[in-house]
Amino acid sequence: MTESEAIDTAKKRLGKRSIVLVGLMGCGKSSIGKRLAARLGLPFIDADEEIERAAAKTINEIFADHGEAHFRDGERKVISRLLSNGPQVLATGGGAYMHPETRQRIRENGVSIWLRADLPVLMRRVMKRDTRPLLREGNPEATMRKLIEARYPIYAEADMTVDSRDEPHDLAVNEIVNRLATSSAVPTGPVQPPSPSRSVRIELGDRAYDVLIASGLLSDTGALIKSRLGAVKCGVVTDENVARHHLATLEESLKSEGLFAGSIVMTPGEGTKNFRDLATLSERLLELGLERGDLVVPLGGGVIGDLAGFAAGILRRGIRFVQIPTSLLAQVDSSVGGKTGINTPQGKNLIGVFHQPSLVIADTSVLTTLPPRQMRAGYAEVAKYGLLGDAKFFSWLENNWQGVFGNNGPALTKAIETSVAAKAAIVARDETETGDRALLNLGHTFGHAFEAWTGYSDKLLHGEGIAIGMCLAFRLSEELGLCPAGNADRVTAHFKAIGLPTRIADIPQTGADADELWRLMGQDKKVRGGKLAFILVRGIGDAFVSRDVPPDTVKAFLKREIAR
Ligand SMILES: NC(=O)c1ccc[n+]([C@@H]2O[C@H](COP(=O)([O-])OP(=O)(O)OC[C@H]3O[C@@H](n4cnc5c(N)ncnc54)[C@H](O)[C@@H]3O)[C@@H](O)[C@H]2O)c1
Repeated sequence: MTESEAIDTAKKRLGKRSIVLVGLMGCGKSSIGKRLAARLGLPFIDADEEIERAAAKTINEIFADHGEAHFRDGERKVISRLLSNGPQVLATGGGAYMHPETRQRIRENGVSIWLRADLPVLMRRVMKRDTRPLLREGNPEATMRKLIEARYPIYAEADMTVDSRDEPHDLAVNEIVNRLATSSAVPTGPVQPPSPSRSVRIELGDRAYDVLIASGLLSDTGALIKSRLGAVKCGVVTDENVARHHLATLEESLKSEGLFAGSIVMTPGEGTKNFRDLATLSERLLELGLERGDLVVPLGGGVIGDLAGFAAGILRRGIRFVQIPTSLLAQVDSSVGGKTGINTPQGKNLIGVFHQPSLVIADTSVLTTLPPRQMRAGYAEVAKYGLLGDAKFFSWLENNWQGVFGNNGPALTKAIETSVAAKAAIVARDETETGDRALLNLGHTFGHAFEAWTGYSDKLLHGEGIAIGMCLAFRLSEELGLCPAGNADRVTAHFKAIGLPTRIADIPQTGADADELWRLMGQDKKVRGGKLAFILVRGIGDAFVSRDVPPDTVKAFLKREIAR
C-alpha cells in the first residue's frame, strides 16, 4: 500500500470516529498528534487547552482552586463534547483515560491510541517544563513511577499501543497510519449517539417523584437537587466499592452547589443491612446535623438504598431522601417504589418502612464499573418485568440483550426505562402491596429461600436467586397445567445465554433439602394467614398471585428440582 493509499484507507475506516491519544505527560501526545493530524488532513485538538478555555483558568489554577475531582469532572464533560465533532485527532490529559465514563465515550466514538514511553524518556521530556501540576512537589521521578504503576494497566485497554521513543516522531506517525489502515484492532463501526436521557414519573399524588435516567447525571446531582428540592444539606451514604469509583464526583457536584454535609462509607454487602449498622448510620447522620428539611442521599446498590432509605424513614420521624442507584438492580428495581428495610436472622427485609424518595437519579454510566456478575444479577430483575407483564419486552430482550450489556448505549437506557415504567405503573396502582404489587415478587418466594439457605453469602446474589426462582415459577406453572409447555424452556434458555443460574444445582452449595427450603419459604413476607402467596404464570408476560398451591405439591416439586 502506498502512503497516500494508507491515508485514504485509514480515513475511510475512521469514518466519524476521532483518534484519541492517551498516555502520560511527556509521551508525545501533542507533538505526535499534530504531525498525525497534518498527515491525515484532520483538525488537531488539545483537550487540556479546551478545558482551560471553557474554565477561563489554567489547569494549575483549576487544580489549586477546586481540586482534582472538579478538574476531572470538567475534563469528562469537555472530552465528551469534543468527541461529538469527529473525525479529528484529540490529545487528552494524562489522567483523562482513567475516568471510566470518559473511557466509555472514547470507546463509543473514537479509536484510542496509547503512546507508551518508558520512565527515562518521560523524565527527560517533562523536566524541560515546569507546568505539570502532578509533578510540582516532592520527588518527580517517584511520582512518575507511581503514575506508571497506576495508569499503564488502564492505558493498556486502548485500541492500539505505539511506543514513543527518542527518535523522529514521524516514525510513530507512519506506524499509526499503517495500523489505522490495516489493523483489525481498529474499531470501525458507526459512532454511538449519546445515550438518550429519560424521565419516568412515579404517580403518587403529593408524593409523586421522577426517576431521571441518563449517562453522566452523577456530576449534575448538585444542580438537580438544588433546582428541584431547594438549597438543602445532603448526607451521602455509600459503600467502599462505590466510593472508590464515584464518591468524589458526587461530593464535588454537591459541594459546587453548597449542599454537601458529609459522607458515610459503609462496608459493602448484604451483611450491612442489619440493626447494628442501621443504628450506627442513623447516629452518624444525626451527627452530620441533618434537619427535617434536609436529605439523605444513598449512593449505591440495593443494600445501601434499602438501609439508608430506612434510616431516612426513621430519622427525626422521617426526612426526605434522593436515591442514586449504582447497580443495575438498584436502577431498575430497589430505588423505585419506596420499600426500605433491613434483614434479621428470621429472614430478609422483615423490618422496614415504606418511605418514598423525593427523586431518583439513575446515571447509566456508573454501571461501567459494576462487576459483570452483578450486572447479570441485575438483569434478572429487568427480565422479570417482561416475564410478569410484558411479553413484547421479553422478546425485545431476547434480541437485544447484548446491547444492554455493551457500552452504556441506547439499549441499556431503553431496558432501564421500560423496567422503571413497569414498576412505576404497578407502584402507582398498589403502593403498599395489598394487591398486584405482589406480582413484582415473581421468582422471589423461591429466590429468598435460596438466599437464606446460602446464608446471604456470595454463593448466590439476590438477582441470581431470583433468576432460579423465576425458572422454577415457570416450571411449577407448567406442571400445574396453568401455562403451556415450552415457556419455561424459553426463559431458561435466555438466562443461560446471559450466564445466569437456572437450577438449584447451579448454586455452589450441596445438601439442598426440600423440607428445609419449604421451611425457609415460609419465612417470606408473602405469607398471609399461614398461606404462602405464589406468583405463577399463564405464559410469558402473564403472571398472577395464587394462594392455593398445596404445600405437598410444592415440596414434591422442590424434590424434583433439587435432583434436576
Ligand atoms: N427495596 C426494594 O424494593 C428492593 C427490590 C429489590 C432488591 N432489593 C434489595 O437490594 C439488595 C440487592 O441490591 P444490589 O444487587 O444492588 O446489591 P449491593 O447493593 O450489594 O450491590 C452489589 C455489589 O456491587 C457493588 N457496586 C454497586 N454499584 C457499583 C458500581 N457502580 N461500581 C462498582 N461496584 C458497585 C456494591 O458495592 C456491592 O458489592 C438486596 O438487599 C435486596 O433485598 C430491594
